[in-house]
Amino acid sequence: MTKQRYTVTAALPYANGPLHLGHVAGVYLPADIFVRFLRMKGHDVAFICGSDEHGAAITLRAKKEGITPQEIVDKYNKIIGDSFREFNISFDIYHRTSSELHHQTAQDFFLKLHDNGQFTEDTSEQYYDEEFQQFLADRYITGECPKCHNPGAYGDQCEKCGSDLSPTELINPKSTLSGKEPILKTTSHWYLPMDRHEGWLHDWIQQGTLDGKQQHDPKSWRNQVIGQCMSWIDGGLHPRAMTRDLDWGVKVPLPDSDGKVLYVWLDAPIGYISATKQWALDNNKNWEDYWLKKENGEESKLVHFIGKDNIVFHAIIFPIILKDHGDFILPDNVPAYEFLNLEGDKFSTSRNWAVWLHEYLERYPEKIDELKFTLTSIAPESKDAEFTWKEFQARVNNELADVLGNFINRALVLTQKYYNGIVPAAGELTETDRQVLNELALAPERIAKLIYAYKLRDAQTEVMNIARLGNKYLADMEPWKLVKTDEKRVETVMHIALQVTAFLGQVLEPFLPASAAKIRHFLGESPVTWDELATYRLAAGQQTNSPEILFQKIEDTLVEKEVEILNQSKSQSVAAAASSPEPQKPSIAFDDFSKLDIRLGTILEAVKVPKADKLLQLTVDTGIDKRTIVSGIAEHYAPEDVIGKTVAVLLNLEPRKIRGVESQGMILMAEDAEGKLSFMLPEKGFGAGGEIR
Ligand code: MF3
Ligand code: ZN
Repeated sequence: MTKQRYTVTAALPYANGPLHLGHVAGVYLPADIFVRFLRMKGHDVAFICGSDEHGAAITLRAKKEGITPQEIVDKYNKIIGDSFREFNISFDIYHRTSSELHHQTAQDFFLKLHDNGQFTEDTSEQYYDEEFQQFLADRYITGECPKCHNPGAYGDQCEKCGSDLSPTELINPKSTLSGKEPILKTTSHWYLPMDRHEGWLHDWIQQGTLDGKQQHDPKSWRNQVIGQCMSWIDGGLHPRAMTRDLDWGVKVPLPDSDGKVLYVWLDAPIGYISATKQWALDNNKNWEDYWLKKENGEESKLVHFIGKDNIVFHAIIFPIILKDHGDFILPDNVPAYEFLNLEGDKFSTSRNWAVWLHEYLERYPEKIDELKFTLTSIAPESKDAEFTWKEFQARVNNELADVLGNFINRALVLTQKYYNGIVPAAGELTETDRQVLNELALAPERIAKLIYAYKLRDAQTEVMNIARLGNKYLADMEPWKLVKTDEKRVETVMHIALQVTAFLGQVLEPFLPASAAKIRHFLGESPVTWDELATYRLAAGQQTNSPEILFQKIEDTLVEKEVEILNQSKSQSVAAAASSPEPQKPSIAFDDFSKLDIRLGTILEAVKVPKADKLLQLTVDTGIDKRTIVSGIAEHYAPEDVIGKTVAVLLNLEPRKIRGVESQGMILMAEDAEGKLSFMLPEKGFGAGGEIR
């Protein structure tokens, strides 16, 4: 029987910064475990990744670092690629979207869809930065999210509430380049009419069917993925521009398209295909086997490992593009991961609140499997999870060192001591012995089921349970005592313990490949396939080697040092923010200033706005009236703390509905570098109605 073929992709990281542990735990490590398992199962796998080198993420970073986009992608492609290699992630290829082959592939794809009439062309008014002479799409424009009122939403997305946005929806839009208010200017673009695709997408995602055929089992898709897609589709899909007015990216391959490039989210996923082509060229394979539709069960299964912020692109937009093309398979699954937090806070590049993979590898090059084990143990498969250095220490010390390492070490050291390292033959088996061997026969199937279902946390737990079983077996049998009374029985006990050791040296391969290789080396064994595992046995009479300690315990000093590094970077970024205050805004005429009507107002009532963490609804005595003002201070002040306070109020700000409540003015607040808010309070004796000038 031919084995199922697989095309496994891991989201192409933007080459605009290094990777942190959140990326690793929620994309690259699970993808690697899955692929290593598939290979052991004998599947034909292409494991594809590379750098995503286009888009505003790159050009804005280049601007920030004061170097060219090319220099940025070269720099981070190297840092990221090197750290993947050192961390032992087994991509078949780590490619780049700046490559010639990719540009060609993406352009061909665009042309084919264009020629098939699958895009529409539309001319519209879009925001434009006059100073920089550039249209402002995606991250080039920020403003207030119309849905959750996050003031830092991007032109394509609000990262706070996850809404998909277009620049014209933003409240108070500002150019990221100049910080200025943009103007509107006419431009024309090619759009993917996603609305045309709602029907088939609905059935394909919810039932796994396409053209009446069952394509995948929808039960194997994560609930969050189906849920997010359905809420998108049910909310109505809209045409989305597939081109941009930029000079960095894949050029639009049509006449009269100077200054236009493909939208990065069109070109990047095609990067999976161009990477596969390059790999096929280098390895004498046929890329089409991994991407095109085929008959007779020859078709590959396409699996995209991604973070949850990438769901729409991989489960809706890219599938539309693949289907429009006509020859391509659609994903069999899109295992998306939730987010990993760090020591009680979100990973944040700007605040440097992160453990960077390349820095971890520099500091602890010998602790690779320790990190893999911890990250898989806490992987954010179904909900957000948290990495702490204390947890890392506990996982390594209590599980890897005390259970797995201890067991392997005992089994091998005793074998050295009693039998000069030679595997003893088993005598008559007891019920307990049989149970242990039986568990080894049954576990591979059970673990395989979990991995095929993308439950890698549970799968790793099952593997550790085998180590626990071995550890308990030795502790219960106490061969070190038994040896004084029943040497014959000890031979059997050690034989069984060594079978468990050998089993671990194989079954750990997907999860902890370096440790698995070490264990096999101690035993003098070579890798076996997953299907051989159930009946795999170490031969009696085989010479084994003296073991080394597999896992060193993590000292408290390491935890303290790492927490200290994090705290330092936090206070540094706060200090940096404080020491580089926003530059002064352009001068205004006195007349402009005197248009502002700012007075003292006394807060009479305060209640929380339902379902809005940040908002308080206030009733304010302004000296001329009592009015309602909605203020974003709920995270800083409890309602009972603000009643009776006399504060600065801007009265003549245009009234605005916030969460259904009309706000008639604004409370003025001071904000510090950490984002803490404080009222502007007058001296004693000043009350409602006092003017501020
Ligand atoms: N660079 C994107 C991110 O980091 C992921 C791109 S995945 C691809 O979110 F499919 F577009 F390649
Ligand atoms: Zn929002």
